[in-house]
Amino acid sequence: MSLDRSSHSYLSGLKVRMSMNDGRVAHITPLVPTAKLHKTTLLKFLGSLRQDGINQVYTSALRPREQFFFRQLGFIVHEELLLLGHDLSTPLSAPVKRTRRGRRSDWDRILEIDAKAFSDFWKFDEAALLEAIKATPTCRIRVGADNEISSFAITGRSGRTGFLQRLAVDPRYQRTGMGRSLVADALQWSKRWFVNELLVNTQIGNTGAQKLYESMGFSKKSDGLAVLKWNANS
Ligand SMILES: CC(C)(COP(=O)(O)OP(=O)(O)OC[C@H]1O[C@@H](n2cnc3c(N)ncnc32)[C@H](O)[C@@H]1OP(=O)(O)O)[C@@H](O)C(=O)NCCC(=O)NCCS
Repeated sequence: MSLDRSSHSYLSGLKVRMSMNDGRVAHITPLVPTAKLHKTTLLKFLGSLRQDGINQVYTSALRPREQFFFRQLGFIVHEELLLLGHDLSTPLSAPVKRTRRGRRSDWDRILEIDAKAFSDFWKFDEAALLEAIKATPTCRIRVGADNEISSFAITGRSGRTGFLQRLAVDPRYQRTGMGRSLVADALQWSKRWFVNELLVNTQIGNTGAQKLYESMGFSKKSDGLAVLKWNANS
Protein backbone atom coordinates (compact mmCIF):
# COMPACT_ATOMS: atom_id res chain seq x y z
CA MET A 1 0.00 0.00 0.00
CA SER A 2 1.36 3.42 -0.82
CA LEU A 3 0.08 6.45 0.99
CA ASP A 4 -0.17 9.39 -1.36
CA ARG A 5 0.53 12.46 0.74
CA SER A 6 -0.31 14.72 -2.20
CA SER A 7 -3.97 13.70 -1.83
CA HIS A 8 -4.10 16.33 0.94
CA SER A 9 -3.92 20.03 0.25
CA TYR A 10 -4.55 23.13 2.30
CA LEU A 11 -6.58 26.18 1.40
CA SER A 12 -7.31 29.24 3.51
CA GLY A 13 -7.86 27.43 6.80
CA LEU A 14 -9.18 24.17 5.31
CA LYS A 15 -7.63 20.77 4.80
CA VAL A 16 -8.86 19.22 1.56
CA ARG A 17 -8.65 15.51 0.78
CA MET A 18 -9.68 14.04 -2.54
CA SER A 19 -11.37 10.66 -2.15
CA MET A 20 -9.25 7.76 -3.36
CA ASN A 21 -12.42 5.64 -3.71
CA ASP A 22 -14.35 8.12 -5.88
CA GLY A 23 -12.66 10.76 -8.03
CA ARG A 24 -15.74 13.02 -7.89
CA VAL A 25 -15.70 13.40 -4.12
CA ALA A 26 -13.67 15.66 -1.82
CA HIS A 27 -13.58 15.92 1.98
CA ILE A 28 -12.84 19.12 3.84
CA THR A 29 -11.86 19.78 7.45
CA PRO A 30 -11.79 23.32 8.88
CA LEU A 31 -8.49 23.92 10.65
CA VAL A 32 -9.45 27.29 12.14
CA PRO A 33 -12.66 28.63 13.74
CA THR A 34 -15.24 29.31 11.03
CA ALA A 35 -15.19 33.03 11.97
CA LYS A 36 -11.75 33.09 10.34
CA LEU A 37 -12.89 31.47 7.10
CA HIS A 38 -13.81 33.69 4.14
CA LYS A 39 -17.05 32.94 2.35
CA THR A 40 -15.94 34.43 -0.97
CA THR A 41 -12.73 32.41 -1.04
CA LEU A 42 -14.61 29.23 -0.23
CA LEU A 43 -17.28 29.85 -2.87
CA LYS A 44 -14.52 30.38 -5.45
CA PHE A 45 -12.88 27.18 -4.25
CA LEU A 46 -16.15 25.23 -4.63
CA GLY A 47 -16.52 26.68 -8.13
CA SER A 48 -13.03 25.49 -9.05
CA LEU A 49 -13.79 22.01 -7.70
CA ARG A 50 -16.93 21.91 -9.84
CA GLN A 51 -14.82 22.78 -12.91
CA ASP A 52 -12.42 19.96 -12.02
CA GLY A 53 -15.30 17.46 -12.04
CA ILE A 54 -15.73 17.20 -8.25
CA ASN A 55 -19.45 17.17 -7.66
CA GLN A 56 -19.70 16.30 -3.98
CA VAL A 57 -17.88 17.79 -1.01
CA TYR A 58 -18.32 16.44 2.52
CA THR A 59 -17.22 18.19 5.68
CA SER A 60 -15.70 16.54 8.72
CA ALA A 61 -18.03 16.24 11.75
CA LEU A 62 -19.00 19.83 12.58
CA ARG A 63 -20.40 21.46 15.68
CA PRO A 64 -23.60 23.57 15.34
CA ARG A 65 -21.79 26.92 14.96
CA GLU A 66 -19.57 25.51 12.21
CA GLN A 67 -22.61 23.96 10.52
CA PHE A 68 -24.28 27.38 10.38
CA PHE A 69 -21.31 28.80 8.44
CA PHE A 70 -21.24 26.00 5.87
CA ARG A 71 -25.04 26.04 5.44
CA GLN A 72 -24.70 29.64 4.26
CA LEU A 73 -22.47 28.34 1.45
CA GLY A 74 -25.13 25.87 0.28
CA PHE A 75 -24.11 22.81 2.31
CA ILE A 76 -26.89 20.63 3.69
CA VAL A 77 -26.88 18.04 6.49
CA HIS A 78 -25.72 14.68 5.22
CA GLU A 79 -25.73 12.78 8.52
CA GLU A 80 -26.20 13.73 12.14
CA LEU A 81 -23.78 12.24 14.63
CA LEU A 82 -23.88 11.62 18.32
CA LEU A 83 -21.04 12.99 20.44
CA LEU A 84 -20.22 11.07 23.62
CA GLY A 85 -17.65 11.79 26.30
CA HIS A 86 -16.01 9.89 29.19
CA ASP A 87 -14.52 11.98 32.01
CA LEU A 88 -12.28 9.13 33.23
CA SER A 89 -13.28 9.77 36.84
CA THR A 90 -14.73 6.30 37.44
CA PRO A 91 -12.70 3.08 37.85
CA LEU A 92 -11.87 1.60 34.45
CA SER A 93 -12.11 -2.04 33.45
CA ALA A 94 -9.07 -3.73 31.88
CA PRO A 95 -9.11 -5.21 28.37
CA VAL A 96 -10.08 -8.89 28.48
CA LYS A 97 -8.99 -9.76 24.94
CA ARG A 98 -5.40 -9.62 23.77
CA THR A 99 -4.41 -6.43 21.99
CA ARG A 100 -1.06 -5.19 20.74
CA ARG A 101 0.45 -2.10 19.13
CA GLY A 102 -0.65 -1.65 15.53
CA ARG A 103 2.35 -1.59 13.20
CA ARG A 104 2.81 0.00 9.78
CA SER A 105 2.74 -3.51 8.27
CA ASP A 106 -0.79 -3.97 9.72
CA TRP A 107 -2.28 -1.08 7.77
CA ASP A 108 -3.53 -3.15 4.81
CA ARG A 109 -5.41 -5.45 7.20
CA ILE A 110 -6.71 -2.44 9.14
CA LEU A 111 -8.15 -1.01 5.92
CA GLU A 112 -9.66 -4.39 5.05
CA ILE A 113 -11.41 -4.58 8.44
CA ASP A 114 -12.56 -0.98 8.10
CA ALA A 115 -14.12 -1.68 4.69
CA LYS A 116 -15.96 -4.72 6.08
CA ALA A 117 -17.20 -2.92 9.20
CA PHE A 118 -18.33 0.39 7.68
CA SER A 119 -20.65 1.30 4.83
CA ASP A 120 -19.15 2.63 1.58
CA PHE A 121 -19.63 6.23 2.64
CA TRP A 122 -17.83 5.86 5.97
CA LYS A 123 -15.11 3.42 4.99
CA PHE A 124 -11.53 4.71 5.06
CA ASP A 125 -9.21 4.91 2.10
CA GLU A 126 -5.47 5.17 2.75
CA ALA A 127 -5.54 8.96 2.93
CA ALA A 128 -8.40 8.94 5.44
CA LEU A 129 -6.52 6.45 7.64
CA LEU A 130 -3.45 8.66 7.57
CA GLU A 131 -5.61 11.68 8.37
CA ALA A 132 -7.05 9.94 11.45
CA ILE A 133 -3.56 8.96 12.61
CA LYS A 134 -2.21 12.48 12.12
CA ALA A 135 -5.29 14.31 13.46
CA THR A 136 -3.70 14.70 16.90
CA PRO A 137 -0.11 15.26 18.00
CA THR A 138 -0.06 11.87 19.75
CA CYS A 139 -1.80 8.75 18.57
CA ARG A 140 -2.15 5.14 19.71
CA ILE A 141 -3.01 2.38 17.25
CA ARG A 142 -4.05 -0.92 18.82
CA VAL A 143 -5.12 -4.09 17.10
CA GLY A 144 -6.97 -7.05 18.51
CA ALA A 145 -4.82 -10.04 17.68
CA ASP A 146 -5.04 -13.68 18.56
CA ASN A 147 -4.56 -15.82 15.45
CA GLU A 148 -5.13 -12.93 13.07
CA ILE A 149 -5.90 -9.25 13.41
CA SER A 150 -9.59 -9.02 14.18
CA SER A 151 -10.08 -5.35 14.96
CA PHE A 152 -8.40 -2.01 15.55
CA ALA A 153 -8.76 1.26 17.40
CA ILE A 154 -7.10 4.62 16.76
CA THR A 155 -7.03 6.96 19.73
CA GLY A 156 -5.42 10.37 19.80
CA ARG A 157 -4.83 13.07 22.36
CA SER A 158 -4.25 16.75 22.10
CA GLY A 159 -3.50 18.46 25.40
CA ARG A 160 -5.94 17.10 27.98
CA THR A 161 -8.56 15.95 25.45
CA GLY A 162 -8.62 12.47 23.96
CA PHE A 163 -10.36 11.35 20.79
CA LEU A 164 -11.36 7.81 19.96
CA GLN A 165 -10.94 8.41 16.24
CA ARG A 166 -11.82 5.00 14.87
CA LEU A 167 -12.97 1.64 16.14
CA ALA A 168 -13.84 -1.33 13.97
CA VAL A 169 -14.19 -5.06 14.46
CA ASP A 170 -14.23 -7.49 11.54
CA PRO A 171 -17.86 -8.73 11.38
CA ARG A 172 -16.59 -12.32 11.82
CA TYR A 173 -15.33 -11.36 15.30
CA GLN A 174 -18.10 -9.02 16.43
CA ARG A 175 -19.90 -9.68 19.72
CA THR A 176 -16.89 -11.52 21.15
CA GLY A 177 -15.75 -8.68 23.41
CA MET A 178 -13.13 -7.22 21.04
CA GLY A 179 -14.75 -3.77 20.82
CA ARG A 180 -15.06 -3.59 24.60
CA SER A 181 -11.38 -4.52 25.07
CA LEU A 182 -10.19 -1.88 22.56
CA VAL A 183 -12.32 0.82 24.21
CA ALA A 184 -10.98 -0.27 27.64
CA ASP A 185 -7.44 0.09 26.29
CA ALA A 186 -8.21 3.57 24.88
CA LEU A 187 -9.65 4.68 28.23
CA GLN A 188 -6.70 3.33 30.21
CA TRP A 189 -4.18 4.97 27.87
CA SER A 190 -6.04 8.29 28.08
CA LYS A 191 -6.11 8.19 31.88
CA ARG A 192 -2.41 7.29 32.04
CA TRP A 193 -1.64 10.47 30.08
CA PHE A 194 -3.83 12.70 32.26
CA VAL A 195 -6.54 13.22 29.66
CA ASN A 196 -9.58 14.94 31.20
CA GLU A 197 -12.13 13.64 28.72
CA LEU A 198 -12.17 11.04 25.96
CA LEU A 199 -14.56 11.97 23.15
CA VAL A 200 -16.06 9.77 20.47
CA ASN A 201 -18.69 10.33 17.83
CA THR A 202 -20.89 7.81 16.12
CA GLN A 203 -23.78 7.73 13.68
CA ILE A 204 -27.15 8.32 15.34
CA GLY A 205 -28.53 4.97 14.15
CA ASN A 206 -25.46 2.98 15.23
CA THR A 207 -27.10 1.39 18.25
CA GLY A 208 -24.39 -1.26 18.67
CA ALA A 209 -21.62 1.32 19.07
CA GLN A 210 -23.84 3.56 21.20
CA LYS A 211 -24.67 0.69 23.59
CA LEU A 212 -21.02 -0.28 23.80
CA TYR A 213 -19.88 3.26 24.68
CA GLU A 214 -22.69 3.89 27.18
CA SER A 215 -22.10 0.54 28.88
CA MET A 216 -18.48 1.63 29.40
CA GLY A 217 -19.33 4.93 31.05
CA PHE A 218 -19.55 7.35 28.12
CA SER A 219 -22.46 9.79 28.20
CA LYS A 220 -24.13 11.83 25.47
CA LYS A 221 -23.04 15.43 25.13
CA SER A 222 -25.60 18.11 24.43
CA ASP A 223 -24.22 19.66 21.26
CA GLY A 224 -24.93 17.54 18.20
CA LEU A 225 -22.45 17.03 15.41
CA ALA A 226 -23.20 16.64 11.72
CA VAL A 227 -21.41 15.89 8.47
CA LEU A 228 -22.55 18.38 5.82
CA LYS A 229 -22.61 17.86 2.08
CA TRP A 230 -22.28 20.22 -0.89
CA ASN A 231 -23.61 19.06 -4.22
CA ALA A 232 -22.31 20.79 -7.35
CA ASN A 233 -25.55 20.10 -9.20
CA SER A 234 -28.01 21.56 -6.73
C1 LIG B 1 -19.51 -1.28 17.31
C2 LIG B 1 -18.44 -2.37 17.30
C3 LIG B 1 -17.05 -1.74 17.37
C4 LIG B 1 -18.64 -3.26 18.53
O1 LIG B 1 -17.60 -4.20 18.59
P1 LIG B 1 -17.83 -5.68 19.15
O2 LIG B 1 -16.51 -6.33 19.27
O3 LIG B 1 -18.84 -6.38 18.35
O4 LIG B 1 -18.42 -5.36 20.58
P2 LIG B 1 -18.35 -6.27 21.88
O5 LIG B 1 -18.45 -7.72 21.54
O6 LIG B 1 -17.17 -5.85 22.69
O7 LIG B 1 -19.71 -5.83 22.60
C5 LIG B 1 -19.75 -5.04 23.75
C6 LIG B 1 -21.18 -4.58 24.00
O8 LIG B 1 -21.56 -3.61 23.03
C7 LIG B 1 -22.96 -3.74 22.73
N1 LIG B 1 -23.11 -4.14 21.32
C8 LIG B 1 -22.11 -4.38 20.45
N2 LIG B 1 -22.62 -4.65 19.23
C9 LIG B 1 -23.96 -4.56 19.35
C10 LIG B 1 -25.04 -4.71 18.45
N3 LIG B 1 -24.85 -5.01 17.15
N4 LIG B 1 -26.29 -4.52 18.91
C11 LIG B 1 -26.52 -4.22 20.19
N5 LIG B 1 -25.53 -4.07 21.12
C12 LIG B 1 -24.28 -4.23 20.70
C13 LIG B 1 -23.48 -4.84 23.65
O9 LIG B 1 -23.91 -4.22 24.83
C14 LIG B 1 -22.23 -5.67 23.88
O10 LIG B 1 -22.28 -6.40 25.05
P3 LIG B 1 -22.91 -7.89 25.04
O11 LIG B 1 -22.34 -8.61 23.84
O12 LIG B 1 -22.46 -8.44 26.35
O13 LIG B 1 -24.40 -7.69 24.91
C15 LIG B 1 -18.56 -3.28 16.04
O14 LIG B 1 -19.90 -3.72 15.95
C16 LIG B 1 -18.16 -2.59 14.76
O15 LIG B 1 -17.00 -2.62 14.34
N6 LIG B 1 -19.16 -1.97 14.08
C17 LIG B 1 -18.94 -1.30 12.81
C18 LIG B 1 -18.03 -0.11 12.92
C19 LIG B 1 -18.52 0.86 13.98
O16 LIG B 1 -19.71 1.13 14.09
N7 LIG B 1 -17.55 1.39 14.75
C20 LIG B 1 -17.83 2.35 15.80
C21 LIG B 1 -18.15 3.65 15.16
S1 LIG B 1 -17.93 4.96 16.24
